[in-house]
Amino acid sequence: MNTKLTKLLKIKYPIIQGAMAWVSDANLAAAVSNAGGAGVIATGGRNLTWVKEQIDLAKSLTDKPFGVNIVLMDNDKDDKIDLICKEKVAFVTLGAGNPVPYFEKLKEAEIIAIPVVPNLKLAKRVEEKGADALIIEGMEAGGHIGKLTTLSLMTQVVPEINIPVIAAGGFADGRGLAAALIMGASGIQAGTRFYASKECSAHINAKNKIVEAGDTDTEITGYLRGHSVRGIKNKMTEKYIELEKEHAPYEQLHDLIAGTSRKAPIDGDVEWGLVQAGQSLSVIKSVDSCEDIINNMINDAKNAFLKIKF
Ligand SMILES: Cc1cc2nc3c(=O)[nH]c(=O)nc-3n(C[C@H](O)[C@H](O)[C@H](O)COP(=O)(O)O)c2cc1C
Repeated sequence: MNTKLTKLLKIKYPIIQGAMAWVSDANLAAAVSNAGGAGVIATGGRNLTWVKEQIDLAKSLTDKPFGVNIVLMDNDKDDKIDLICKEKVAFVTLGAGNPVPYFEKLKEAEIIAIPVVPNLKLAKRVEEKGADALIIEGMEAGGHIGKLTTLSLMTQVVPEINIPVIAAGGFADGRGLAAALIMGASGIQAGTRFYASKECSAHINAKNKIVEAGDTDTEITGYLRGHSVRGIKNKMTEKYIELEKEHAPYEQLHDLIAGTSRKAPIDGDVEWGLVQAGQSLSVIKSVDSCEDIINNMINDAKNAFLKIKF
């Protein structure tokens, strides 16, 4: 399958595995890359030693391109970018902050820079400032989210942008991939679907929670304090929403949510930890290998195209 994205990243299929803090490590990233997509190691909340180990491990597990994600809220983001430049990783995705100051350094190191943006204004800005591609992420997505949906972003951003646009948020099967390509996107980024994969190192309780969940099972926490995160409803999210309704002080909300993005995938506590996940859950029926996930997506996308009659 040939798109602007497959050409840019030198990959077989236009599918990126979205970075998932505390979830996507070298094992998952390498498995996705070996299956023809592009895997991404998430560095959010991790220290520099862990990042270096994971880059080394991924290099030993695949000779295909893989990426690293930088959370621009992290205090050690500059050190992480320096490390990535030294390690000559194929590409970097950058989210949760201003990516523009890093473009020059990444370009000098010949690393492809792909920021994640939540609206048209920022998409135009990162293109103008030298991004190689960009990810538009809709609020159907798992993790930290913006306010627009994936469809409204594809509708409004794709026609205005010349670099490859990757759509994210709610993609979990081949029909979604086909829809994104028809909308003019050059590929998709999927997170939740790869969370529930065999090669993902996350705790089995968290993976099972994704498999068991359906379309109405996610909740947004943090909306009122401008820091929205989508995850699967549980005791923690119920308590959070209750406190929000009572106008509880910020500190109380912060104490409840602190560390929860790690507690579910690492410790397996899926009631008081948060299984960050997107809305497209009903189609995720089992924990599958990355190869099966990608092959099914490609076959189903092809079938979806064939079914269209004009
Ligand atoms: C568990 C989880 C953790 C995430 N962590 C990050 C992160 O650290 N950095 C980032 O840029 N995006 C993060 N995301 C967003 C994903 O990279 C991706 O864009 C999103 O999952 C796409 O939506 P989907 O889950 O519906 O496929 C995370 C998503 C999930 C589900």
